[in-house]
Amino acid sequence: MSVAQQLQKKITDRTAVVGVMGLGYVGLPLIREFCSNGFNAIGFDVDEEKVRLLKAGKSYIKHLPASIFNPWIKSGQFVPTTDMSQIKKADCILICVPTPLDKMREPDMRFVRGTSETIAKHMRKGQLIVLESTTYPGTTREICKPLFDARGFELEKDYFLAFSPEREDPGRVDFTTGTIPKVVGGMGPESTKLACALYGGAVKHVVPVSSAEVAEACKIVENVYRCINIALVNELKICFDRMGIDVWEVIEAAKTKPFGFQAFYPGPGLGGHCIPIDPFYLSWKAREFGVTTRFIELAGEINTSMPEYVINRVAEALNERTKPLKGSSILVLGLAYKKDVDDVRESPSVELIELLEERGAKVAYHDPFIPKAKPMREHNITHLKSVALTPENLRKFDCVLISTDHSNVDYGMVVKHAQLVVDSRNACGKVQDPRRRKVVVKA
Ligand SMILES: NC(=O)c1ccc[n+]([C@@H]2O[C@H](COP(=O)([O-])OP(=O)(O)OC[C@H]3O[C@@H](n4cnc5c(N)ncnc54)[C@H](O)[C@@H]3O)[C@@H](O)[C@H]2O)c1
Repeated sequence: MSVAQQLQKKITDRTAVVGVMGLGYVGLPLIREFCSNGFNAIGFDVDEEKVRLLKAGKSYIKHLPASIFNPWIKSGQFVPTTDMSQIKKADCILICVPTPLDKMREPDMRFVRGTSETIAKHMRKGQLIVLESTTYPGTTREICKPLFDARGFELEKDYFLAFSPEREDPGRVDFTTGTIPKVVGGMGPESTKLACALYGGAVKHVVPVSSAEVAEACKIVENVYRCINIALVNELKICFDRMGIDVWEVIEAAKTKPFGFQAFYPGPGLGGHCIPIDPFYLSWKAREFGVTTRFIELAGEINTSMPEYVINRVAEALNERTKPLKGSSILVLGLAYKKDVDDVRESPSVELIELLEERGAKVAYHDPFIPKAKPMREHNITHLKSVALTPENLRKFDCVLISTDHSNVDYGMVVKHAQLVVDSRNACGKVQDPRRRKVVVKA
């Protein structure tokens, strides 16, 4: 039996051990799918705290409660570890580490490179390695492959390498890791076949493509599409607002067209680990080919200007009430970058808080899922703690700025008690209280 056939057999009879590098928002759901489909998994992370919490039966991501993983951890089906020498025990290794931008807004490949170096150090013959982190086309071939080849292993014969983009949407309930189709592009036919077999054992639909580059580009296209369409509705919001037209009502009407239109919604800016970042991976790579990605640049410009626009709306609304922004007390409602998650990465709320503080406002926040602001790579708002959302507290603030439309917030109560609400998400759109017309300003 060839090395590939041996691995194929292990995958088919589910004796293949799945190693996941990076136990974050992407790595943990993957482990959940593989374990619930009968595979054994080893979860690797450099963050000792995450491994400690998992072993202690505690969760650090709201929508992934510890109760999912505890039985597998107890039975030994899932082993979380920081011991990278265990990599040799895994038959398939999935890389789910961060791909942020650096200070110059260029791809920061430290995590992908570092993880690949670690894998290269401990790898053995007969392993399938799949990069899942979102990145520019060419990463698997240009960064990962040379490191594995340097160990003296031959691709497609001794080891197998593929890219499979992660399309997880944290907090979404209608589509999950197991039901979102998985695009797979190998560095050769054997790699594609093995990676398709592996994912076929854990997710409903696998979509093979002809190369790792196609799979890498596919994920970038999805996020560029979102980024540009969000920028478009953000620009239309500003335009319609000047015309006295409610952009949310326009979108609700437009989306009744059964074809040719997909609804995107405006907001206070872009957040999360994906949409504000991934398109710039392509822009960076495109420069190597002498191509300028003008749509991406323009969308980035519009989206990054949104927090400033929202703050100006707050200032205008306060001005109407003869109050200056400087010295006013503002409650930012929602710290997470989108509703119903506890993830603050790139959250526009953080920028809103900083801009408000820069302009002399006294700022507090409420987020039902984030009791205390944690340190972040680029920002520091650790002086803030979530304040309780009570009628008394609401009355105290000169303005409540809704930046995240969490579902479990009582917007009726907010409208009933706040002096002024600036709503950047149309969260109060359905509130019936007659006060809404008086106190709510859309932004
Ligand atoms: N979060 C999402 O919604 C989402 C969706 C689709 C794709 N992605 C992509 O998936 C990738 C991972 O994102 P995430 O949200 O899971 O990130 P995350 O920060 O939640 O998790 C990444 C984990 O990798 C660990 N790590 C860093 N270096 C490591 C190393 N050398 N070895 C082992 N572990 C290491 C970190 O400690 C962290 O726990 C990114 O490329 C992201 O763009 C994320």
